[in-house]
Amino acid sequence: MYILEGKDLFVKFRTRRGETIALDNVSLGISDNESITVLGESGSGKTTLSLVLAGAQKPNKGEVLYNGKNVYKLKGKEYKEFRRSVQYIMQNPYSSFNPFKTISKSFRTVISQYKLARGEEMDKLIDEYLKMVNLDPPIKDKYPHQLSGGQLQRASLARALLLKPKIIFADEIVSMLDASLRVEIIDLLKRIKEENKISVILITHDIGIAKYFSEDYGRIVVMYKGKIIEEGLAYEIIKSPKNEYTKSLMESYLDPFR
Ligand SMILES: Nc1ncnc2c1ncn2[C@@H]1O[C@H](COP(=O)(O)OP(=O)(O)O)[C@@H](O)[C@H]1O
Ligand SMILES: [Mg+2]
Repeated sequence: MYILEGKDLFVKFRTRRGETIALDNVSLGISDNESITVLGESGSGKTTLSLVLAGAQKPNKGEVLYNGKNVYKLKGKEYKEFRRSVQYIMQNPYSSFNPFKTISKSFRTVISQYKLARGEEMDKLIDEYLKMVNLDPPIKDKYPHQLSGGQLQRASLARALLLKPKIIFADEIVSMLDASLRVEIIDLLKRIKEENKISVILITHDIGIAKYFSEDYGRIVVMYKGKIIEEGLAYEIIKSPKNEYTKSLMESYLDPFR
């Protein structure tokens, strides 16, 4: 039984230049405490798929079920619980924080919204979660632009974790960071997944990142032109891809660790 499941998802965008089919009958189920990497070149539909699954983009056809219920029909308490349980971290951390609020203020907004703590307990909670992502608590008095991209991406992870989510979508979260920081953030993501027993869906166009995150036994889902063209265990997909496109993708990749 999946906690979150997209069935036959179809998404079409109309623009001045015509129509784009961003998702073409895609189905994907996410189990408890699972890690999945969605791999594909830019424009293949990864972000659309993750937004649809996270309840942020209603598909033209198909449905998304959270514990068996259609997420686009959830109301009241059930909707709130879904919003809390499924978190989304975007590529650009500077756009996911209000530039006029300190980190502490941003965290407090979430804490009060979900009544997670009050008064002095708020500060304790903020410090606890900053430490969890290896940030120094005094950082909370700074504004987003005073932090580096890596620090701010850690902070967005901490803010998501505050809500004790069951699923975290991480959409190209390291692609804006220097190569030296990428491994650190992916390591952090892996540790957090293990410690908190959550499902993490990492979305990336980078095979190196996909490989590093999935290790051997994680699941990789390969997307191409709005479709899932191959999926399976990381080592099988990397060593012996079946699909022609996946093959060419793997052949074009030079393993820097080899
Ligand atoms: N809001 C939108 N309006 C119009 N076209 C869009 C929109 N979002 C995505 N697309 C198009 O849908 C396709 C898939 O995009 P996206 O899901 O962002 O892919 P990826 O994340 O893999 O780069 C692309 O062709 C993109 O241009
Ligand atoms: Mg994208």
